Amino acid sequence: AKYPVIAIDGPAAAGKGTLARQLAEVLELPYLDTGLLYRAVARRVLDQGGDPAHDGPEQARQLVPEDMRRNDLREPEVDQAASIVARHPEVRAALLERQRHFGRARGAVVDGRDIGTVVFPDAPAKFFITASPEVRAQRRYEQRHGQPCTDPARLAEEIAAINTRDEQDAARAAAPLRPAEDAVMVVTDDLDAAGVLDHVCQILQEKG
Ligand code: C5P
Repeated sequence: AKYPVIAIDGPAAAGKGTLARQLAEVLELPYLDTGLLYRAVARRVLDQGGDPAHDGPEQARQLVPEDMRRNDLREPEVDQAASIVARHPEVRAALLERQRHFGRARGAVVDGRDIGTVVFPDAPAKFFITASPEVRAQRRYEQRHGQPCTDPARLAEEIAAINTRDEQDAARAAAPLRPAEDAVMVVTDDLDAAGVLDHVCQILQEKG
């Protein structure tokens, strides 16, 4: 590939965003969080009283940069609605060129679900970041509440929400969540953010 794109895919709350942001800083590349695009489309649909299962293509075409800077894109209702609008092939098509354009300008670290498989299949480096649902649920909870979850019932809810979203993302016909054949798998259950970054930097160095 002519542009240095690093593709980071994986299920919900695996630590893709943290890794991608830090990696972009280390490598001095722009960072693109593609989940924000789907979240922004879902937000527009919800705001307009629409149904994420049917609406989305129109909202995807109307997306403006300010939509991705809203503070209310990380709410649980948006998690689920984003995963539902992301099933529409038309929504995906409307967002595809934006993502490619961003990456081609001067390279980028890009995180999402289909970056290594669909958006940048020629990316010279691809990682698939995973962790068990339990670990991801706990991390997501800490992110939102600033402290670990000590209530097993509450944690079970979080695990269920994460599993629903992953199953939906993996089962869809259009650009399902799956590792590219040439992606390096990184399991992060026993690593903190610094450990994941180190590990990935080491692999990139070995690749040259
Ligand atoms: O990564 P994040 O959790 O912000 O993504 C929200 C939702 O957007 C995902 O559950 C997925 O359905 C969708 N998405 C996608 N393709 C991407 C990035 C996100 O389908 N490249």
